[in-house]
Amino acid sequence: METRILSRSRGWLDLAKQYIEEGDVVAFHTETVYGLGANAFSDAAVLRIFELKGRPQDNPLIVHVHSEYDISPLIDGEPPYAAALRKAFLPGPLTMVYPSTGKVSKYVSCGLNTLAIRVPSSPTAQEFLRAVDLPIAAPSANLSKHVSPVTARHVYEDFNGKIPLILDGGACTGGIESTVLDCTGEIPQILREGLVTREMISSVAGDCGIYRAQKGERPKSPGMAYKHYSPRCKTAFFGADALDAAISLYEAAERKGETPCFLCASEQVSRLGGRMALDLGGTGEVMARRLYDLLRKGEKTATLLIGIEPQETGGVMAGVRNRMHRAFGVEHGTEEN
Ligand code: TXA
Ligand code: MG
Repeated sequence: METRILSRSRGWLDLAKQYIEEGDVVAFHTETVYGLGANAFSDAAVLRIFELKGRPQDNPLIVHVHSEYDISPLIDGEPPYAAALRKAFLPGPLTMVYPSTGKVSKYVSCGLNTLAIRVPSSPTAQEFLRAVDLPIAAPSANLSKHVSPVTARHVYEDFNGKIPLILDGGACTGGIESTVLDCTGEIPQILREGLVTREMISSVAGDCGIYRAQKGERPKSPGMAYKHYSPRCKTAFFGADALDAAISLYEAAERKGETPCFLCASEQVSRLGGRMALDLGGTGEVMARRLYDLLRKGEKTATLLIGIEPQETGGVMAGVRNRMHRAFGVEHGTEEN
């Protein structure tokens, strides 16, 4: 199968609609990362997503809809705080988990009685969702466990020859996946940190928890149980106060004939004595936007990628740190501590 990458052009959405209606899978731009979408009402189309990604069948999918789509048949009620959050942050990088009415394919939620819904703000995503006018189940458009894609080229690298179409909306400006928020309880609870921060949610809902799985418990957001977002080279990770140890490892690797490279914040790059480094930038927003692109660059150019924890905390940094921990296999992401 030929995989076409199309930017806005005559007929591009007609083609996407045709593929979706035939039960095929289409990749599309969103403001966070690219998604791999299929008709959420179709069992076969949803199963095809799991097959293409090599995704475990207990990791549920998010359903994407356009701004005017009526979600009330899909969800079993909504607390007042959720309606307020929708008004404040949608369309945008916030996914809301509701009690499900079970109208979409049972494979979307993998046996959970809830449904995750997202209204992306990307014009490409909105136009695509409007054209099909269906709920579209879509995980990030990467092979399972690989780094999420923030350009159409990244999607192509993972799915060339396997999907018919990628709707190219340019580089993703958000850069890390949406915040996943459980809206089934008394107060909202963050299941995955992202660009809509705990502080932002609290300011509208009055309160906001963060879910941390207890040892041995099945996580509420099952995706969190897996190593994720990982580059395909060797990796190492150091705290912000361990630059000397990180440099020692870099030098030892060089002596062994390896190609090591750092991945860290601008302020840390300036303290690495000109050694090879990928620069994440200075603020949470910039780090989020660059992280996945640099992880993909790193795996292509280095044999050992050495991550260093940024100094910054709070706001968007919670999401950036969480994704760095996941990418470098550090066992203290949001859900474990
Ligand atoms: O920004 C995003 O959210 C991107 C773009 C494409 O929209 N999508 C994305 O999907 O990151 P995915 O499949 O890579 O991650 C979905 C996360 C997983 O951690 C999954 O476990 C969680 O959302 N999730 C989905 N449905 C859920 C549900 N009913 N209850 C709890 N967590 C759920
Ligand atoms: Mg993903």
